[in-house]
Amino acid sequence: MANLSSILFASLFGAAAITASAAESNMSTYCVPHQVTPNEQYEIFEGWVHEFYLEREIPKAFHTYVMADFIQHNVYEPPYGALPSETYLHKLFGNSSIGIEILHQGFDGGIGWVHWRLDNAYPRPAAIADIFRFNESCIQEHWDVIQELPADATNPIALF
Ligand SMILES: *[C@@H]1O[C@H](CO)[C@@H](O)[C@H](O)[C@H]1NC(C)=O
Ligand SMILES: *[C@@H]1O[C@H](CO)[C@@H](O)[C@H](O)[C@H]1NC(C)=O
Ligand SMILES: *[C@@H]1O[C@H](CO)[C@@H](O)[C@H](O)[C@H]1NC(C)=O
Repeated sequence: MANLSSILFASLFGAAAITASAAESNMSTYCVPHQVTPNEQYEIFEGWVHEFYLEREIPKAFHTYVMADFIQHNVYEPPYGALPSETYLHKLFGNSSIGIEILHQGFDGGIGWVHWRLDNAYPRPAAIADIFRFNESCIQEHWDVIQELPADATNPIALF
């Protein structure tokens, strides 16, 4: 899986190389944090999930919910800045044959998570957990955990 996915993601990333300074020059067009209550933060997270995973309006979702100095921990995505991740993910999820199905989601203490099924990006379906850290009204940081269904899975109900 490491080889296949690094080929897939490296080829997508190749076309999406954008410098951090380009993103910095456009800071105010991304989310600028203002103080919110925990309940408002939860509603903002729900908005992000709707816009990103369901509507798949990737640039709009990034400009509305993500800070310009976003920190990205996905091992194949560019590390800093909203624009590089936005460009990368727009290219990936703009393809309507890539399947996204949300399985579970939750929010607590400024951290939101989404457990979902990804189809047609890898040879077999993959289970993904995305974890988002909020800074007040905005998403500041993202981690993910990804497992493609292995060909030799012994559990008949894996992964879903
Ligand atoms: C700047 O922000 C606009 C949206 O407000 C976006 O369309 C554009 O691509 C951004 N440009 C750069 C260089 O960040
Ligand atoms: C969209 O994704 C499918 C499935 O992975 C792939 O076969 C196709 O080449 C992709 N299309 C584009 C334009 O990237
Ligand atoms: C929230 O964002 C502000 C403005 O960029 C920054 O100064 C602050 O350190 C951030 N706080 C956290 C907890 O990330």
